[in-house]
Amino acid sequence: MTEPADRAVRASGSEGPTGADARLHGYIAELFCAEDELLAELREELEERGFPTIQVPAITGKTLQVLVRAAGARKILEVGTLGGYSAIWMGRALPADGELVTLEKSPEHAALAREFVERAGLDGKVSIRVGDARELLPEVDPDGSFDAVFLDADKESYPLYLEEAERLLGPGGLVLADNALWKGKVLDGGGSDADRGIREFNRLLSESPAFTAIILPVGDGVAVGVKG
Ligand code: SAH
Ligand code: DHB
Ligand code: MG
Repeated sequence: MTEPADRAVRASGSEGPTGADARLHGYIAELFCAEDELLAELREELEERGFPTIQVPAITGKTLQVLVRAAGARKILEVGTLGGYSAIWMGRALPADGELVTLEKSPEHAALAREFVERAGLDGKVSIRVGDARELLPEVDPDGSFDAVFLDADKESYPLYLEEAERLLGPGGLVLADNALWKGKVLDGGGSDADRGIREFNRLLSESPAFTAIILPVGDGVAVGVKG
């Protein structure tokens, strides 16, 4: 693997397709999804601190950025901050008066995210709330006030998070979810609570009369549902 497209596949982390699809993914990533120094440093910092390196790949970050910009989003909610990698991608797509609220249960992850959000110059737009999203979400209001909700925390709670997203989104708002293909595990029956959570989320989203939805086969799968 020496071609630029192959290098881009590696830089995007372990998530994503293998074989011929991976090289096409790499082609897209190389052309459209270059990280700046700050995002690359954040990925390294996660590794150095021994935190999970499960941030979205750059191709997913850029996809989120394009989608929130297409939706004209001014107010975004994220569930699962980690070090702020995806929050920075989306935060950069916000207008001057835009805001992104992100929920994170680990104070250590939230502290790293604060550091990088500030260095990205996004501390005026991005606010990080520490706690379990299952408890914090019911307190988030008002209903219908968000233009996009991005789900990327505990997979077993995705079905619950979908209900909260439906409540919080206004007309035309986007529900977005990472790991909708779950490294292929959506194809198997049974499995862990996380496996079942993702499959149930996908089924609920596909059948929901509230959303027009699809899964984009980008990274580990990005579910997209437009409300209304
Ligand atoms: N969106 C991030 C990656 C998130 S990884 C990025 O792409 O950069 C998942 C994060 O969700 C972890 O930091 C984990 O601590 C957090 N998390 C897991 N369960 C949670 C819960 N119930 N409430 C809030 N955060 C949770
Ligand atoms: C994993 C990957 C993710 O993108 C995520 O949000 C959670 C877990 C994983 O590989 O286990
Ligand atoms: Mg994820």
